[in-house]
Amino acid sequence: MLFKQQVWLRQKLLVLGSLAVGSLLYLVARVGTLDRLQPICPIEGRFGGARSQAEFPLRALQFKRGLLHEFRKGNVSKEQVRLHDLVQQLPKAIIIGVRKGGTRALLEMLNLHPAVVKASQEIHFFDNDENYAKGIEWYRKKMPFSYPQQITIEKSPAYFITEEVPERIYKMNSSIKLLIIVREPTTRAISDYTQVLEGKERKNKTYYKFEKLAIDPNTCEVNTKYKAVRTSIYTKHLERWLKYFPIEQFHIVDGDRLITEPLPELQLVEKFLNLPPRISQYNLYFNATRGFYCLRFNIIFNKCLAGSKGRIHPEVDPSVVTKLRKFFHPFNQKFYQIIGRTLNWP
Ligand code: A3P
Repeated sequence: MLFKQQVWLRQKLLVLGSLAVGSLLYLVARVGTLDRLQPICPIEGRFGGARSQAEFPLRALQFKRGLLHEFRKGNVSKEQVRLHDLVQQLPKAIIIGVRKGGTRALLEMLNLHPAVVKASQEIHFFDNDENYAKGIEWYRKKMPFSYPQQITIEKSPAYFITEEVPERIYKMNSSIKLLIIVREPTTRAISDYTQVLEGKERKNKTYYKFEKLAIDPNTCEVNTKYKAVRTSIYTKHLERWLKYFPIEQFHIVDGDRLITEPLPELQLVEKFLNLPPRISQYNLYFNATRGFYCLRFNIIFNKCLAGSKGRIHPEVDPSVVTKLRKFFHPFNQKFYQIIGRTLNWP
């Protein structure tokens, strides 16, 4: 009998103990959640004002990720989001191109900044007639939640080369900031080809060699009808944009330098966007396995870009490379003249 009572007592104590530990854990978790739900760091004036670094602690960045993460997981209601002033804002800056220039890397790296919020997907609002017909509210609803003082950035590289886009963006916001990331034109064209080739191979299809597409077999000249070549004639596209926006509204990012030395390129963008300098060397580390810089958000969270970024290019006949470089040369000179910056292209 006594033994039974002892067992009963032990079980009771065990249950009570578990309840106490459970409650404690719940409270800790709850406090953690509440902590994440509080606007820890007021971020007023982040966009536009030069402020001291001390005013933008790393915790703001953690909070930004925390709440949105909870919202996506369904742990935070729309009401809580509203209470915390989160809104879906139209972009104040757009990465309009260039395809294969490093647009994803640029967007992800800018997103390291606590005042920047990125639209994760390419929205293709301005270049796709069907999407454009859905109206600006449809576009806004595609944007991530952010604080009013943060800026939203989206990237859709097709914007740069699509005829109708400059006018459409101008109608939305004539003072929007436009980012273009470029790479040495021949390398970019080969990168473009590599992406298409990979798509064909995935579907077990055969595809032409790059040389066959880039050089017209009848004239032995560069084939300007080939899209990968046309996209790399940056000056032609930029001139179309300049009919709507002054050059001051553009910032050109050197995509080749973003690969080898990302920080100075990002600092130039911070300046262009009037953001206080917050991205530091701490946020970027070289990953030898990937052969690229990866992103460090905080002590816990870091990431590299997907494997589809940084593909191995097929070998291209050196005489074709030379021919292409010669072809792009005068266009590049014109491009440098317009943007007021010389890039290290051959
Ligand atoms: P490659 O695959 O030819 O190397 P986009 O995002 O516009 O499609 O551009 C893809 C290119 O971004 C890649 O082209 C790669 O070279 C470049 N890039 C720049 N920084 C990178 C990074 N940190 N990680 C992976 N790719 C990066």
